[in-house]
Amino acid sequence: MSTDNMTNQESSTKRKKIQKIGVFTSGGDAPGMNAAVRAVTRAAIAHKLKVVGIRRGYQGMIEGDFINLKSTDVSGIMHQGGTILKTARSKEFRTPEGREKAYQQLKKAEIDAVVVIGGDGSFTGALVFSQDYDIPFVGIPGTIDNDIYGTDYTIGYDTALNTVVEAVDKIKDTARSHGRIFFVEVMGREAGLLALSSGIACGAEAILIPESSDNGSSLNRFLAKGYKDKETSGIVMVAEGEEAGGAMKIAEQVRKDHPDLDVRVSILGHIQRGGNPSAQDRIAATKMGVAAVDALLDDQKSIMIGLMNNKIVHVPFNKAIKLNHSIDEDLIDIQKVLLTNQ
Ligand code: F6P
Repeated sequence: MSTDNMTNQESSTKRKKIQKIGVFTSGGDAPGMNAAVRAVTRAAIAHKLKVVGIRRGYQGMIEGDFINLKSTDVSGIMHQGGTILKTARSKEFRTPEGREKAYQQLKKAEIDAVVVIGGDGSFTGALVFSQDYDIPFVGIPGTIDNDIYGTDYTIGYDTALNTVVEAVDKIKDTARSHGRIFFVEVMGREAGLLALSSGIACGAEAILIPESSDNGSSLNRFLAKGYKDKETSGIVMVAEGEEAGGAMKIAEQVRKDHPDLDVRVSILGHIQRGGNPSAQDRIAATKMGVAAVDALLDDQKSIMIGLMNNKIVHVPFNKAIKLNHSIDEDLIDIQKVLLTNQ
């Protein structure tokens, strides 16, 4: 956020407080996290701050697994998937003792402020920590699920979407050759956006997501009309959080109900989390990384940096983690229109 309405003197007085920031990645990795680490590091250095990389998420914070980051340490990482800082889901940080240890490690390393790159679990950790300790945290949303309230976009989603589309294009070749129905399971935890968007991009015959009440009938419509009448192949996208319990279970039921159909299942799994980040993920990560450092210098804390209509926004952690990221209803409507014509 800009400091346009502050005098230069006010701005530099505020900005003197922070001298060293920590940056870490947490929860499930997502392509583009490295671009965010790079942007945070370089923006901080541009403001004459020192930067410390905290390795292995909150667990590394508890154990003091820190490395000093210079500008050259983040060279050549922009295009790499995964996270050079590594990541973890720490049970110990959920305890008051774990958080106390983390605080002592941050103090010992003279870290005044922290940027956390992760999903809602990571922001929950930061919010709980900030209730007891005075070190400010600012978050950058990084998860392939794109399920965080207050931002149109989370780092990693675009790359994962393209990975799914590429994989399903290949599955379609073999599905068509054999006249088979494939149930393709896509990640996203309780959110169906990745399945919905990839299903639309791949021209799937049915898309089953937790946010829709129409899953059973859209699948039956395809089985009865699209497949049986036309004897073609078909792709059914299934979000892992769909209430029927995933692609395996649904396919099992379809096999029982329609023993004449040739059904296969493909669970795409962690392939969706890897790979070189797309240009969009790199750019979003870079924008948000720079904005996170600006926010800390402007005395902000317990907020997530988001992108709404391509503009940087600040979202309080308590909103980002408690409210739901709503599914794009337009996409659901589009899917319905197209499937009606099957
Ligand atoms: O949140 C990202 C995500 O990939 C989800 O889509 C998925 O449900 C989960 O993480 C898998 O987590 P893990 O890698 O710990 O099995």
